[in-house]
Amino acid sequence: MRTDTGQVFRLEDYRASDYRIPELEMTFRLTAEETRVTARLQVERRADATPQTPLLLDGDGLVLEALEIDGAPAAPDAYEATPDSLKITRPPQRERFTLTIVTRLAPADNKALMGLYLSNGVYCTQCEAEGFRRITYFLDRPDILSVYRVRIEARREEAPLLLSNGNPVESGDLGEGWHYAVWHDPFPKPSYLFALVAGDLSAVRDRFVTASGRTVALAIYVEHGKEERAAYAMDALKRAMRWDEERFGREYDLNVFNIVAVSDFNMGAMENKGLNIFNDKYVLADPDTATDTDFANIEAIIAHEYFHNWTGNRITCRDWFQLCLKEGLTVFRDHEFSADQRSRPVKRIAEVRTLRAHQFPEDQGPLAHPVRPRRYREINNFYTATVYEKGSEVVRMIRTVLGEDAFRAGMDLYFDRHDGQAVTIEDFLACFEEASGKDLAQFALWYHQAGTPHLAVSTRHDAESGEFVMDIEQSVPPTPSEARKRLMHIPLAFGLVGPDGRDMTYQSAEGAEVEDGVIHLRKRRHSVRFTGVRARPVVSLNRGFSAPVTLSVEQPRSDRLFLARHDSDLFSRWEALNTLFTEAAIEAAARIRGGKAAEFEADLLSMPAEIAADESLEAAYRALALTLPGESDVAREMGTNIDPDAIAAARDALRTAIGRQGQATFAEIHAALQQHGRFSPDAESAGRRALRNVLLDYLAAAGGPELAARQFQAADNMTERAAALAVLAHQFPESEQTRAALAAFEARYRDNPLVLDKWFTVQATVPGQGTVDRVRALMAHPAFSLTNPNRVRALIGAFASFNQTGFHRADGEGYRFVADTVLAVEAHNPQVAARLAVSFRAWRSLEPGRREEARKALAAIAGQKQLSRDLRDIVERTLA
Ligand code: PHE
Ligand code: ZN
Repeated sequence: MRTDTGQVFRLEDYRASDYRIPELEMTFRLTAEETRVTARLQVERRADATPQTPLLLDGDGLVLEALEIDGAPAAPDAYEATPDSLKITRPPQRERFTLTIVTRLAPADNKALMGLYLSNGVYCTQCEAEGFRRITYFLDRPDILSVYRVRIEARREEAPLLLSNGNPVESGDLGEGWHYAVWHDPFPKPSYLFALVAGDLSAVRDRFVTASGRTVALAIYVEHGKEERAAYAMDALKRAMRWDEERFGREYDLNVFNIVAVSDFNMGAMENKGLNIFNDKYVLADPDTATDTDFANIEAIIAHEYFHNWTGNRITCRDWFQLCLKEGLTVFRDHEFSADQRSRPVKRIAEVRTLRAHQFPEDQGPLAHPVRPRRYREINNFYTATVYEKGSEVVRMIRTVLGEDAFRAGMDLYFDRHDGQAVTIEDFLACFEEASGKDLAQFALWYHQAGTPHLAVSTRHDAESGEFVMDIEQSVPPTPSEARKRLMHIPLAFGLVGPDGRDMTYQSAEGAEVEDGVIHLRKRRHSVRFTGVRARPVVSLNRGFSAPVTLSVEQPRSDRLFLARHDSDLFSRWEALNTLFTEAAIEAAARIRGGKAAEFEADLLSMPAEIAADESLEAAYRALALTLPGESDVAREMGTNIDPDAIAAARDALRTAIGRQGQATFAEIHAALQQHGRFSPDAESAGRRALRNVLLDYLAAAGGPELAARQFQAADNMTERAAALAVLAHQFPESEQTRAALAAFEARYRDNPLVLDKWFTVQATVPGQGTVDRVRALMAHPAFSLTNPNRVRALIGAFASFNQTGFHRADGEGYRFVADTVLAVEAHNPQVAARLAVSFRAWRSLEPGRREEARKALAAIAGQKQLSRDLRDIVERTLA
């Protein structure tokens, strides 16, 4: 493990390298215990660098076997080698020279899953962000672009399949059971996009003809016997390829495009040029084993990695501070793709729920950082919701500010101007400024300043003069190391909803730039004055979630109820209802803490049945509208002094009250939505299942476990089976029906680890005191493994992130358990351990007793002598 040296990397310290490596030839001779890597680097000194400048290459835990300079063994005093660096102290006084570096690796021992490792007997690599230096010494930074030629040698029996980036050029036999293949990638790329796969896998093949008529051979490689479960991923890939041509004018550029599914993977997937490597969770799906959410995730991630081919690979990042340049932009692109493939409003609501669940707490806690950070100790810890999700929101706002046409012109200019380069956010923004003629200087703060801006809004109406005034004040809360904030450019979409539910028109608007239904806030305070407004409008704000801000609107509750029924913007309509639910839960939690019973307004309790029966709304939309805010959503809105038990009790009471009130309607719709005929993963069918499952949750709260038990038994697809199992396990953990369903599920999927993950998660998220012991016991289950990241996330991650009453057990046992497990994972996989430790980030917002217990658990981690850079960075920032 690479322990922490305390070194901090700063954006302002960026310097271009004195050396380039335009070409690289690698030979891998693969065995599990002793792989030999020969790397031949063509090195070029930059014209303006001094000839004596030493060449310092990155390494990470490497064993150097041999080193040649221009084909001759390097003299002992010509270099200094350690496991973590190779310094050519006296480089040849020529502009160009070659370095031949031989390193020895042990893929079988690599449990950190960075560099070259074995996953279920398959050799594979993961190089982003700094994994290439675990394979050979290199200038392992994204602004060094090289053309790769890769030769792979392996025992044919062990690895009949040999893959790398680019196009295949040669293959053949080597005798004694060995064979080889050579790959050539004509596109210069940074080392983080290098990939190699070797193993015994099955191919699912297809082809794609690009807009200009080139045929691309597509393949998805999976373990034998799983071919049919890759069909949906292949279909999604072809749709993504077509969509990128149509929406962004981007064609694929190699003769082959390969995807490999592996079972041990730290993240979701990786966009290596021409050879995407996926966590198999995001490839494998069929109706019996995958939920509709799994299908949607596969579609989105297949598209995301494919879209990286242009946003990330053809144009890459100058340095890791620019990570959002590829990630935020590519998330924006995959969001747009999914919105086009499915339902735009439903997709938007889902995006906002994710943003609030993952990015808002980050922005409001100790780990807050700008979309483009200025400093880091460990870059792995910056693959965050802020870089990805808020980064996508910022691109979306650029489109709102510029309009569709200028936005597309800016993207075209970006592709045109920077193809083949490693660039910065400034380069990106300049393209939009030029294409639109607009000044984005203030807007750029969205990249540079952390924290979620807040808008406080109050309104006045004068019927006599027909004037409607909106007073809006912006503030950005302080975040670590950024005490004072500058004012931002916030595009706030709005509508003035009239008594008939339609949007009202107005004569003029003053006090801010108002254009196409968007108010452009640029100052601390704006008084926006609308004239020609006779009737009192109900104001609908941040329509479509035009800006990632928090909002407090002085508005009577009756206005919110009105918007929840009538807002023509479906996002805001959902938002109004969601706010009402959240406020009701907060009030109920306060009563419960005060020893009183929860109480709810009748007009709120009757709304869900109205919505459930409203056939003018898509089923998927109705399902989202009926989904109560989660316990952590309620906690986030409460802000401080959080008591998770009171919140859980309040939310349960609300669910039961709604269930009782709507019981008859819900039961009727639940029955009517029963599907007949063949399963289809399309959005409409998925929407009906989603609605049916939300209704089941209410019906169970009101009426007991029988209906859920019946749905579990009757289900012919995983979406309905898993939902019924969750209702049983979470609402009736002690019931006979639950015990039977859990046992049946386990027996049915005993040999399918990905499906068994659902079984681990559902048990890890059973509310209450007892779950921590249950999770401990499940760690001994034969299917569980601390070295597989999917297993760790399914059991421990789910417990720490999604079980508010279990993790936050008042006596601190949940915290101690997670802290111990973090350390157990840390021993072999620092990246996964650091991610798990992030679950402590909201500790300061807890009530004092829990706060102290959480602090002690964190301090116990921090007190360890030897910690990885990854984990030390997270715990120290969390405690700071
Ligand atoms: N670049 C990957 C993606 O977003 C994520 C990733 C990062 C995967 C680091 C592995 C390691 O598509
Ligand atoms: Zn990405």
